[in-house]
Amino acid sequence: MSDRPADRFDAGWLGLREPVDHRSRHEPFVTLLEAEGRTRGWRSVLDLGGGTGSNLRYLGSRLRWAESWCVLDHDPQLLARVHTFGPTPVRTLLGDLAQEGIEAVQEADLVTGSALLDLVSREWLVELAARCAGRGAGVLFTLNYDGSVALHGRGEDPGDAFVVDAVNEHQTGEKGMGPALGPTATPVAVEVFEAVGYRCVTAPSPWILSGAADARLARLLMEGWVEAAEALHPAEASRLRAWLARRCEEFPGGLEITVGHQDLLAFPDPAGR
Ligand SMILES: C[S@@+](CC[C@H](N)C(=O)[O-])C[C@H]1O[C@@H](n2cnc3c(N)ncnc32)[C@H](O)[C@@H]1O
Repeated sequence: MSDRPADRFDAGWLGLREPVDHRSRHEPFVTLLEAEGRTRGWRSVLDLGGGTGSNLRYLGSRLRWAESWCVLDHDPQLLARVHTFGPTPVRTLLGDLAQEGIEAVQEADLVTGSALLDLVSREWLVELAARCAGRGAGVLFTLNYDGSVALHGRGEDPGDAFVVDAVNEHQTGEKGMGPALGPTATPVAVEVFEAVGYRCVTAPSPWILSGAADARLARLLMEGWVEAAEALHPAEASRLRAWLARRCEEFPGGLEITVGHQDLLAFPDPAGR
C-alpha cells in the first residue's frame, strides 16, 4: 500500500514501513534485474517518488551494475534524508513526477519506484511507458497495493469488510495527478507497458503484520484506514472507532494483517535494444 489512506508521507511513517517493505519484496526479480542489466550494459537508475531512499537502500547493494542513482521526489524534507549508498553516486532531484520525473527517464537505464504506482494516474503511466520505450529502459515497480486486505483475529469482525471497502474506494481518489489507480495499478501498468512492447512479469509482495515488532505500523495503518472510512462515511464514525478499538486490542498476538501488493518487472523487447 503506497501509504495510509490519510496520504501522509512523513519520514517517521516511511521509516516504520521500510523494514516491512524490504522483507515483503519479491527478491527473485532483483536477481533477474541484476543479470539483465549486466547483459544489457546498464549503468543508471532513476527512482521515482523515492522519498527518503528506501528503494535505493534495498536495491543499491544488489544491483552491482548500477554506477549512478537519481532519486526524485517533490518533498525536499524527505529527499534530505537520502544518503549516499557506499561508493555509488546518488543525485537527489526535487521535482514532480509529471514534469521532472518524465524528463529524467531519458538518462535512465532502469526506472523504478516503490510504493508509488497506486498513487499515479493511467495518463501518467501511458506517458512514462512511452518515454521508457523510447529510451529502452527496464522497469521495476514494487509494493503496488492490490486491494486485498485480510484480518485474521479471534474471529470475523463485521466491521472488516466495511473498512476495507472504504479504503479501496478512497485509494482511487485524487492524489495530485488525477484519479489514482489504487488497487488496479499493477494490471493497468502491465497493459500499458505491454502496449509499448514490454515483457512484463508480476509477483505478490504482501505485507504480513503480526508480531510485536509490527505493532506500531499495524496500529497506524488501521488508524489511517479508519480516517479514510470516516471521510467517506462520517455518520459511521462511532462504529468505525469501535472497530479500531477492537482490532487494536487484538494486536499483537491475536491478530495477523495481510495487505496485498504486487511487484512488477518489465523489460523492453531485446530487439529494440
Ligand atoms: C508512499 S511514498 C513511497 C516513498 C519511497 N519510494 C518508499 O518506498 O519509502 C510515495 C512518495 O511519492 C512521492 N510523491 C507523491 N506524488 C508525487 C509527485 N507528484 N511528484 C513527486 N513525488 C511524489 C511522495 O512525496 C512520497 O515520497
